[in-house]
Amino acid sequence: VRTRVAIVGAGPAGLLLSHLLAAAGIDSIVIDSRTREQIEQTIRAGILEQGTVEVLDALDEFSRARTVGHRHDGIELRFAGAGHRIDFASLVGRGVWLYPQHEALKDLIAARIAAGADLRFGVTAQRVEGAASDRPRVFATGADGRALEIDADFVVGADGSHSVVRAAVTGSQTGGYFREYPFAWFGILCEAPPSATELIYSNSPNGFALISQRSATVQRMYFQCDPEVDPESYTEEQLWHELQSRVPGTTLNEGPIFQRDVLRFRSFVAHSLRTGRAALVGDAAHTVPPTGAKGMNLAVADVLVLERALRALLLENDERLIDAYHDTALHRIWKAQHFSWWMTSMLHVAPDASDFDRLRQLGELQTVVESEAGRRYLAEAYTGWPLEGRA
Ligand code: DHB
Repeated sequence: VRTRVAIVGAGPAGLLLSHLLAAAGIDSIVIDSRTREQIEQTIRAGILEQGTVEVLDALDEFSRARTVGHRHDGIELRFAGAGHRIDFASLVGRGVWLYPQHEALKDLIAARIAAGADLRFGVTAQRVEGAASDRPRVFATGADGRALEIDADFVVGADGSHSVVRAAVTGSQTGGYFREYPFAWFGILCEAPPSATELIYSNSPNGFALISQRSATVQRMYFQCDPEVDPESYTEEQLWHELQSRVPGTTLNEGPIFQRDVLRFRSFVAHSLRTGRAALVGDAAHTVPPTGAKGMNLAVADVLVLERALRALLLENDERLIDAYHDTALHRIWKAQHFSWWMTSMLHVAPDASDFDRLRQLGELQTVVESEAGRRYLAEAYTGWPLEGRA
């Protein structure tokens, strides 16, 4: 088959790109190896920057994040037995929305299908050829085992951290800047009323915990754990004990735990985000550890930069923006990498931390909460820097 832009991956990045391109009159095909149900049911992060919500408004009159999600005007940092609110509204006049990524995906898929988009689930990309030519091609296999070849003007890898397109862009499947962390998050979903009105990011001698929410009846919480831990090895009572001991000062509302998962921590940036007629966006281009919730927001930011570049290239034959894509996107990506690393290292307790490390970390947290400049940096980064082409 032939299309203008072949998009590998129907996550937030791929679907949003397809939607924005369609609005500019550029057709695309989106393929994903997963089924629609798998995509819509995988539990991912929950925080959208204000700018991300404004972009998602393009799907409808306004994004469902505004009606089904909840606006948050601050977070709490808790350490050394006290809570400190970071008041986004007064510091930067912006906020975030608590709206689960899989809900945003349902909205994106529904909008693409309603617009008659060519969206193919259960189709697995095998490789990309011809990125150096002006007729790149994606070789894929359908669920029935039948081969599919997509002939395009441009190929986009929006296919996540195990990206197949990455090899064609960077010359290797793994080539990039990489960092691992000696801990992970144990995540739970439970049936209980909220324990707090805003998110609590808590540093405690027992390790980090994040108290987040989903709705009036479902809550999301995480605590720092060993990356090798078996999620089934804890009883519910042990899980509540772990969580409770890490947020001294708050009594968590407990309830049945109906989902548990272990999230690995990684920082990764591909060596190259574009070669010839192929480019990477979202997790295919970079991974951040989850502290600070930058993952999906960064994917949306990449897409805005790439979409503009593709419009110039495909509608006006102007290569300047696509030539600049790598540098333009990396400017924000490295800022977000730093913020995600910083939030992670400031709030978690490394397994080999010395007394010096522990006390220095508390000094760092005090520095941030006692200084308006410190709180404002956190608020700016958390709510999101200005997006391409937007005020
Ligand atoms: C959630 C996840 C995050 O990584 C974060 O920083 C805040 C909230 C969540 O899933 O609710």
